Amino acid sequence: MIGSLGSLMGATTTTTEAARPLVDSFGRVHRDLRISVTDRCNFRCTYCMPVEGMTWLPREEVLTFEEVERIARLLVERHGVNSIRLTGGEPTVRAHLPVLVGKLAALPVDLSLTTNGATLAAVAPDLAAAGLRRVNVSLDSLRPERFEELTRRDELSNVLAGIEAAVAAGLSPVKVNVVVLREVNDDEIVDLARYGRDRGVTIRFIEFMPLDGGGAWRPDQVVTQAEILGRIEAAFPLEPLARGHAPAERFRYLDGAGEVGVIPSVTRPFCDQCDRIRLTADGQLRSCLFSLDDHDLRTVVRSGGSDDDLSDAIEACVGSKWAGHAINQVQFVRPRRSMSQIGG
Ligand code: GTP
Ligand code: 5AD
Ligand code: SF4
Repeated sequence: MIGSLGSLMGATTTTTEAARPLVDSFGRVHRDLRISVTDRCNFRCTYCMPVEGMTWLPREEVLTFEEVERIARLLVERHGVNSIRLTGGEPTVRAHLPVLVGKLAALPVDLSLTTNGATLAAVAPDLAAAGLRRVNVSLDSLRPERFEELTRRDELSNVLAGIEAAVAAGLSPVKVNVVVLREVNDDEIVDLARYGRDRGVTIRFIEFMPLDGGGAWRPDQVVTQAEILGRIEAAFPLEPLARGHAPAERFRYLDGAGEVGVIPSVTRPFCDQCDRIRLTADGQLRSCLFSLDDHDLRTVVRSGGSDDDLSDAIEACVGSKWAGHAINQVQFVRPRRSMSQIGG
């Protein structure tokens, strides 16, 4: 058994020795599990999905809550995972999500969710009551027409209400993710930073990554961390904070109005600190967002495999993890799955 209930009070959890820690060939210890609960989504963000023609996983291929719980419990109790993030597609479109949250909240982990926020006003109280601790919400524009162009849904007011509802439900911290696209929403960087400062939520600006499924990504669409920081600093001076094992680099506003982050996955990847593994909705374990291969845990579970069989498959996945994604190098190969199919 790892972790301690006392440690759940903080944003990070401490661990005692795991029986079989997940150490890869570069010495990185994996303690962060991201679970995609569905590949479906109620948005069609232009940088993630085509307007139509997505094929969804058949229901029987998606892990049941009991299957997810079994894998998560083993990863926590035997392998030292201390942080679980629920993702999608859009996780709140999975029916009865609070039931899964309740099962996972019984484990000694920092339990969080990443959502597009459209249904959050309705579900935040139930998720918080079930034991969810915090949420990250996507918000790429504060302008209704632009928001609709980007997400292909007229949902800005619902997302803004969802952010307020998450704060009111006691989910903390609430972070807001902005994917920055050149000549699409990069003129809103300062407005979005101000929105976060005014509401006490941490905005994180994300460099656009080649995970768009449709293959539309081009390097010149990436607004770099240096450019993003330059624009924020011109309005609100900043100083850097420590980064840790997370893709976000953190900065503090010098006037005390909280913090802001940048996720520079293209120009300053955090690969050498990466402690993440990912379980897709159809039960495939991936050691990297950009992995080209999946490790099939669903077949192990559904063919009556033991916990040792599952551990062997998990360790094979982590053992084969590469050093990093190499987006900026000629040998880079885009993964077959898009962000929504992997779980951001
Ligand atoms: P916390 O800081 O713990 O809240 O987590 P997070 O920032 O990783 O969570 P979130 O789900 O909000 O992810 C935000 C963005 O981080 C995603 O859109 C990705 O762009 C990026 N990201 C998350 N995981 C990875 C990863 O393993 N590799 C890379 N390169 N980027 C990642
Ligand atoms: N590059 C960077 N971030 C992306 N997201 C989705 N697709 C991409 C991409 N190609 C973000 C979403 C959400 C998070 C889960 O991933 O906006 O905030
Ligand atoms: Fe849905 Fe998130 Fe993809 Fe947008 S980025 S279409 S909200 S999965």
